[in-house]
Amino acid sequence: MALADFVADLDALADAAQQAFASVADAAALEEARVEFTGAKAGKLKAAQQGLGKVDKADKPAAGKKFNEAKTAVEAALEAARQRVAASGIVVRPGPAVAKASAIAPRVIIGGPLDVTVPGKKLRLGHLHPVTQTIADMKDIMGRLGFTAVEGPEIEDEWHNFEALNIPAIHPARDPLDNFYLATAQVAASQRPAGAPQEKPLLLRSQTSTVQIRVMESTPPPVRIISLGRVYRPDTADATHYPMFHQIEGLLIDRGVTMADLKSVLRLFCQSYFGKYEVHIRFRPSFFPFTEPSVEVDMNWQGGWMEMGGAGMVDPNVLRAVGYDPEEVTGFAFGLGVERVCMRQHGITDIRALYENDVRFLSQF
Ligand code: DAH
Repeated sequence: MALADFVADLDALADAAQQAFASVADAAALEEARVEFTGAKAGKLKAAQQGLGKVDKADKPAAGKKFNEAKTAVEAALEAARQRVAASGIVVRPGPAVAKASAIAPRVIIGGPLDVTVPGKKLRLGHLHPVTQTIADMKDIMGRLGFTAVEGPEIEDEWHNFEALNIPAIHPARDPLDNFYLATAQVAASQRPAGAPQEKPLLLRSQTSTVQIRVMESTPPPVRIISLGRVYRPDTADATHYPMFHQIEGLLIDRGVTMADLKSVLRLFCQSYFGKYEVHIRFRPSFFPFTEPSVEVDMNWQGGWMEMGGAGMVDPNVLRAVGYDPEEVTGFAFGLGVERVCMRQHGITDIRALYENDVRFLSQF
């Protein structure tokens, strides 16, 4: 081979390599170009070196010198590209082979060799909100006691939120200042007794006792249900109040149900919920329009009494309102605060923390 041809090929090769290295944008492209031009087995530089053997003997020294110049230029272009890619934020480190034999072109390895013994970065997975966890636990425990979980609407009418629960129109609990009343709903003529108004007021339910009525209206006794969900009251938010919170409502209707059944179920419920610590239940006389007698339920756990909510024997007026015969069946009902239980369990002292959605707080549970 004539020296001139060899030199022309080398120049073309060096040009092509310089252009290729100048245009790579990331580590993968860089590696591809490196293999193409300086690859130890099939790189173009390697091929050119083999061409050296075919040059006339007299021209060999000149050809060798030219080859070395081209090689240096190509390697300089590779190094420049390597530094440019590294500076762009992609980590490019030479592999261990380079340290041993620097004559071999460095291998580009992103992030260095893989060390499988290094502990992985901890993935931050989301989890259920503490109140949702409490609700799930409560459903689970009451399910084992034979109570089926049912749902009811959060937008209610006055019949289900008040009237059927023995809370008549003149009752102070119906005050607009104590309830979130919404727009009125049209009542279809077919659903309306003669003379009844065409519109009925709607409100965000203020208690889950509404679900008792909906269940009893649609099912004959016996009934054994719980309902867990949101309720709304226009309270100013402070450490123990929030305008939206959750209640667990329980209802058991059958022949011969007594207060003793109520107390047993509530004690078993609290004992199961708070587990290994011994739990006591206390009833204090109270009044609710929909139960007679009515009680406030307190629970003693780890040395302090905590108010859980209200309970009692379902008032005969309520049973009659849904078409049950109070001479045939009796029943108990209870309504407990979900947040209270959740807060007590976790030692949370401000209900607002549950609804601020601060992940630093929520991730602790
Ligand atoms: N609904 C009552 C409230 O929100 C709680 C309650 C008391 C529910 C007695 C009941 C009950 O089922 O029997 O304050």
